[in-house]
Amino acid sequence: MKIFLDSADLNEVRTASEWGVISGVTTNPTLVARAGAKDFKAVVAEICRLVPGGPISAEVISNDTAGILKEARELAVINPQVVIKIPITPVGLAAVKQLATEGISTNVTLVFSTAQAILAAAAGATFVSPFVGRLDDIGANGLDLIREIVTVMDIYQYPTEVIAASIRHPQHVVEVALAGTHIATVPYKVLRQLFEHPLTVQGMERFQADWEALQGK
Ligand code: G3P
Repeated sequence: MKIFLDSADLNEVRTASEWGVISGVTTNPTLVARAGAKDFKAVVAEICRLVPGGPISAEVISNDTAGILKEARELAVINPQVVIKIPITPVGLAAVKQLATEGISTNVTLVFSTAQAILAAAAGATFVSPFVGRLDDIGANGLDLIREIVTVMDIYQYPTEVIAASIRHPQHVVEVALAGTHIATVPYKVLRQLFEHPLTVQGMERFQADWEALQGK
């Protein structure tokens, strides 16, 4: 499983990239607004620099195919790493289909059903992003969705990679991995939590104390 960081905050991207565990970044308009990234294209360019070679998802906001294509082409010239994030709609998939012919990668987002994921793969999406946490929030089962989508991608050998998104806590990361997702896109806070275990801290303190005691002899 590959791990992407789900953030538009350059400090978070810089720190997480130093940990050596992320191979891509996803953003969305809410994350961009939360980061105060007014110069969105400059932030996308910097994220590409911070995560060399990694897919960097930048979302469009237009609600018509022509508008999506215009935004997509403007974003794609920033860096070959840029992936165009497009919500799952008929006009969105029309743009996905066209962008695939232009060699521009896409990430179909706001996916909440296997049917939607099938359409995204049929249109030639590079990635598809089912939102686990938001389904859990309404009492649905986000993990069953991941399992179903991965199964369909495997059966038909679609090249579309599944990015488990809307990750809320470390156990979500473990569960989507067990469900077979290709990628999990993880918020910075959750990514930091993945490192933490009280027995690790306790063990390090014991090693330190024992080593220092030896030096003192
Ligand atoms: O990449 C999609 C993700 O950012 C959505 O997460 O927590 O807003 O459901 P959330």
